[in-house]
Amino acid sequence: MNFNNKLKHWYLQNNRELPWRKTKDPYHIWLSEIMLQQTRVAQGLPYYLRYIEAFPTVFHLAEASEEKVLKLWQGLGYYSRARNLHFTAKYIANELNGEFPGNYKDLLKLKGVGDYTASAIASICFNEAAAVVDGNVYRVLSRYFGIETPINSTKGIKEFKELAQTLIDTKEPGVYNQAIMDFGALHCKPQKPLCDECHISSSCVALEKDLVGTLPIKEKKIKVRKRYFNYLVLKTANGYTMLNERKGKGIWQGLYEFPLVETQKPIESVKELINDKGFEDLFQSDVSISLFNTKDVVHKLSHQHLYTKFWVIEIEKHIKATIKWNEVEEYPVPVLIDKFLTNFKKDKI
Ligand code: ADE
Repeated sequence: MNFNNKLKHWYLQNNRELPWRKTKDPYHIWLSEIMLQQTRVAQGLPYYLRYIEAFPTVFHLAEASEEKVLKLWQGLGYYSRARNLHFTAKYIANELNGEFPGNYKDLLKLKGVGDYTASAIASICFNEAAAVVDGNVYRVLSRYFGIETPINSTKGIKEFKELAQTLIDTKEPGVYNQAIMDFGALHCKPQKPLCDECHISSSCVALEKDLVGTLPIKEKKIKVRKRYFNYLVLKTANGYTMLNERKGKGIWQGLYEFPLVETQKPIESVKELINDKGFEDLFQSDVSISLFNTKDVVHKLSHQHLYTKFWVIEIEKHIKATIKWNEVEEYPVPVLIDKFLTNFKKDKI
């Protein structure tokens, strides 16, 4: 028996009796799947029943007031889901005559419907072989196949979706999708999975390698700090500019850059710039200022994103402007500055 047959075999004996499993009506499936995102079945079930009672069809939901839609959602959290649900119900009722799109690609176009929901509806209602990948599926696949790619990385999301797609039962995709989700929820659980009584454990890589407790792997998302840089690109009448060596222990230690004014928020105007202490310290006399890049250059480092403006400052002369423009290239500079210099030179030609 292959993987999907084994899962379906398990499902036939163990599946949960759930009200939305008695129908293939896309309205019911859509409601249940939206509600069950980030919510356990036991918690979502009463909400589903209340919604179906209050709004038996997509037209009822479309005609309901937003207060009522939100009131019945109260406690489920992520309220944007309820607002999107209402928006999409109106769209389906008014623009599509109450008829849901009948395939994955068109379902995906609905507001609030992502890859997971589109796959669930397409497979359960329209028998389309679109594999769902939710938290349960990540867990089952990563353990069974011993996959250590983080499930929340771009690479992981792609890899798991592709694998799920190769495994799906093309004859009964809806049954297969629900089987793997139920298997993850009830059997291959996050804590205390039932490996001792598992009928697929003999080919489970995680069990063999003692990785059941480690998989799936989730990478810790580092918090990215936003910083706002304003570089003052000096141009004196006789062809000089100013570069400073970056001191301290940062990654740019020893590299050169234009005088930098860093602010807590983006600087939006010349007036704001000239009122900044960093600017006042450098320039007392009259200068002409122009912004070189109207849109911030965003330079991405692993822990920080640098939102950068290059201000070109033309001035008669300046005591600290000691570097000739045609010698600037001899100085080691960060990539951010190097790219600016390339564009700046292009602009002059
Ligand atoms: N979790 C969310 N939707 C589900 C479904 N249709 N079957 C099993 N678990 C689910």
